[in-house]
Amino acid sequence: MKTSKKNLLFVFFNICIIAAQINASGTNERKPYIVYMGELPEERNYLMDEHHTLLSEAIGDEVIARNSKIYSYGRSFNGFVANLLPHEAELLSREDGVVSVFRNKVQKLLTTRSWDFLGMSGTVKRKHEAESDIIVALLDTGLWVQSPSFNDTGFGPPPAKWKGECVKTGNFTGCNNKVIGARYFNLQNEGPPEEKSPADFDGHGTHTASTAAGNSVHGASLYGIAEGTARGGVPSARLAIYKVCWALGCQDMDLLAAFDAAIADGVDIISASLGGYPRNFFEDPMAIGSFHAMKKGILTSCAGGNDGPDFETVENVAPWILTVAASSIDRRFETPVTLGNGENFSGIAINTFEPKERLYPLTNGPQVRNVSADPFGNVSACDIETLNKNKVKGKIVYCLGVDGQDDTINELGGYGVIMSTDDVTDTAFPNLIPGTFISIRDGVKIDKYINSTRSAQAVISKTITVKTKAPFIASFSSRGPQTLSSNILKPDIAAPGIDILAAYSQLTTMTGEADDKRVVKYNIISGTSMACPHVSGAAAYVKSFHPDWSVAAIKSALMTTAKCTKIRPVGAELASGSGQINPRAALHPGLVYDIQHDDYISFLCKQGYNSSAIAILTGSKKYNCSSFPRAKGADGLNYPSMHVFLNNSQSAFSEVFYRTVTNVGNGKSVYRASIRSPKGLSVTVVPNILTFDRPNQTRSFKVMVKGQFLRQSSWVLSARLVWSDSNHNVRSPILVCRTSF
Ligand SMILES: *[C@@H]1O[C@H](CO)[C@@H](O)[C@H](O)[C@H]1NC(C)=O
Ligand SMILES: *[C@@H]1O[C@H](CO)[C@@H](O)[C@H](O)[C@H]1NC(C)=O
Ligand SMILES: *[C@@H]1O[C@H](CO)[C@@H](O)[C@H](O)[C@H]1NC(C)=O
Ligand SMILES: *[C@@H]1O[C@H](CO)[C@@H](O)[C@H](O)[C@H]1NC(C)=O
Ligand SMILES: *[C@@H]1O[C@H](CO)[C@@H](O)[C@H](O)[C@H]1NC(C)=O
Ligand SMILES: *[C@@H]1O[C@H](CO)[C@@H](O)[C@H](O)[C@H]1NC(C)=O
Ligand SMILES: *[C@@H]1O[C@H](CO)[C@@H](O)[C@H](O)[C@H]1NC(C)=O
Ligand SMILES: *[C@@H]1O[C@H](CO)[C@@H](O)[C@H](O)[C@H]1NC(C)=O
Ligand SMILES: *[C@@H]1O[C@H](CO)[C@@H](O)[C@H](O)[C@H]1NC(C)=O
Ligand SMILES: *[C@@H]1O[C@H](CO)[C@@H](O)[C@H](O)[C@H]1NC(C)=O
Repeated sequence: MKTSKKNLLFVFFNICIIAAQINASGTNERKPYIVYMGELPEERNYLMDEHHTLLSEAIGDEVIARNSKIYSYGRSFNGFVANLLPHEAELLSREDGVVSVFRNKVQKLLTTRSWDFLGMSGTVKRKHEAESDIIVALLDTGLWVQSPSFNDTGFGPPPAKWKGECVKTGNFTGCNNKVIGARYFNLQNEGPPEEKSPADFDGHGTHTASTAAGNSVHGASLYGIAEGTARGGVPSARLAIYKVCWALGCQDMDLLAAFDAAIADGVDIISASLGGYPRNFFEDPMAIGSFHAMKKGILTSCAGGNDGPDFETVENVAPWILTVAASSIDRRFETPVTLGNGENFSGIAINTFEPKERLYPLTNGPQVRNVSADPFGNVSACDIETLNKNKVKGKIVYCLGVDGQDDTINELGGYGVIMSTDDVTDTAFPNLIPGTFISIRDGVKIDKYINSTRSAQAVISKTITVKTKAPFIASFSSRGPQTLSSNILKPDIAAPGIDILAAYSQLTTMTGEADDKRVVKYNIISGTSMACPHVSGAAAYVKSFHPDWSVAAIKSALMTTAKCTKIRPVGAELASGSGQINPRAALHPGLVYDIQHDDYISFLCKQGYNSSAIAILTGSKKYNCSSFPRAKGADGLNYPSMHVFLNNSQSAFSEVFYRTVTNVGNGKSVYRASIRSPKGLSVTVVPNILTFDRPNQTRSFKVMVKGQFLRQSSWVLSARLVWSDSNHNVRSPILVCRTSF
């Protein structure tokens, strides 16, 4: 098994896929399916009976049906989970009242400096009372509630609207006035035996919760690294914990149960840093759960995935979700190596170990080869079975590639490890032992030095913090375009997700490895998982000032005030969406692009979703796509960004976007449109002046995007529309891209 956090992060999903494939084999065994039935009926007393009747009819045996049922949803939407055979699932999918039937899948888990960097200092203007009425829900690995980040000193009782529960059991020591609810969902025991409680045995959930809404804690650091004040986006807000991720991953049925509960419990914002199984909206628990949340005015913010820098990798893309990319902040963690000859190399890693000696003996794989071992192993990469324990002892070993060599060298009694790679350039990962990651070019130099002397020596310093230019988008952050609604630009927005310091669980070790001795209260980890709760916190912050704003209004405010990322390679918007969040500016966006529930229905009709499915989804038969007003324009939605996606090699294009903005500023104002666009792309806005007499007034306009790719090899063109009055700049990226050329 790989050891570093990097490997854990990236390898974890593969385990899930293998597990899912094993489950898929063997067709005679019933497997869990989710039977999704849309909106709750008005009469709810017979929900369970109805589920049972449907199930009995499909299975044809009441006893088997009873044993097959796993769970009934019914607090916020209608549906159930049951163990079914494929033909039974097929029968159910044809029933009136059933929107979709889909196999349960396993998804994966996908701050001191970060909030200051976003312009929210410790003294930023806040509405403390309104903020303390905000409840942020985390759908994650649970919580280590004992962390100082969740101390409830100074908090009053939970807001009156709160209807949730606290399950105090096992290592979960109970809730308080900061963490007002905690539950777990593990509808079917699978995977290794684990304590069933809301306690966090992973660290991920504690980290994301404290990033979104942890208290201010002074002097937080990881062994002195990144020392400062750890703070969530809304330190006065309350937390509601829904544990849905376990050692095996995060099961769809558990995730949907958490949505069903959280919406009914009265939360305001839902933060979900998980994903890994993109599929149709009506077969995706994240899209289904967040749709019902949206109807109740609850915003769901999701991680966009860690599968970058490849394009077409972004996930959690439903237009009612806020999809988050990971950006950098203005620092990075360097772990330098100094050789015996005085040469220095700057590595990237989190190294908590202070060297005790000035220099240590240095070697490479070939010099410490075990001559009686596997001659086919990769000795330069330090494969475990190729090295001689006696020769490794006490030394720093230089190894090619990154493949958990810290674990190997630790097991063989080595002191430290230097790994070379060109893959990890922007993200610092920890090792079990003193270690660092350097470029392949520097690696060759170090290797030459080792070969050139009989007594090579080196020292790996403790990590230092270095200022850098920011923001840029993390290489691992997933990129658009996406195939489910391809004219909606995703991800929506970016937030810090590289090397984030936040609270951690003391029920695990710093690297998650059993032989790691380091148990930490604060840890530094990376991922779109870390970016997502920054946006959840920012959304809660905006909501504390504007409690009546819709989900789309909050989303629009965050998107139109975001800052463009400075480094702008071709197609940057496919990585960053509208740019990096700027929470303070989002309090006063001037105009918002609002979207109501019915607009999403028109959009779904335009996307080709079936009338009957949409009728069930909305709980009303009045939504018949053929009689419903048709969504207009390239995307059919009043979205704060504009995207033309050409799934072919055509070079000329001409599309129209219809938009309506609502004045959320004060009274009278005049906004003028300005356009920045490159050669080949013409953008016309009609009208290009919008006059408002009063707040809450709406104005409509259209944006005509026309042009052609001038070079055969070009595939992306980007422009920007900005509506400005004297106080506001309302920005929207406009992106045209094609898949082949
Ligand atoms: C919470 O913080 C207060 C004030 O700083 C302190 O007195 C108390 O011991 C803390 N509680 C816990 C459980 O750590
Ligand atoms: C807490 O978790 C540990 C495993 O990490 C377990 O051994 C112990 O029994 C648990 N404690 C309680 C009170 O359940
Ligand atoms: C290498 O780094 C060490 C500590 O970071 C410093 O003291 C030394 O001057 C550097 N040497 C060179 C040659 O840059
Ligand atoms: C060398 O490899 C052999 C065969 O795998 C193993 O039995 C032996 O313990 C190894 N020797 C050392 C010193 O690591
Ligand atoms: C050994 O592993 C390194 C790093 O993964 C790789 O670059 C190299 O090609 C491998 N060598 C052999 C002989 O497989
Ligand atoms: C160092 O020597 C090893 C063999 O002992 C060889 O495989 C490697 O390529 C050499 N490194 C350099 C940079 O020449
Ligand atoms: C583009 O077209 C190809 C082939 O028709 C299809 O497989 C792919 O999913 C499409 N991509 C998008 C983003 O629609
Ligand atoms: C909706 O789709 C289902 C099959 O997916 C079909 O049986 C049904 O007739 C469709 N309904 C409408 C109104 O198109
Ligand atoms: C939808 O409306 C069209 C025309 O108004 C009608 O022909 C069709 O039967 C309706 N479909 C449903 C599912 O009600
Ligand atoms: C703004 O207008 C909407 C309908 O367009 C209405 O529901 C809402 O109450 C209005 N808000 C204010 C503050 O006037």
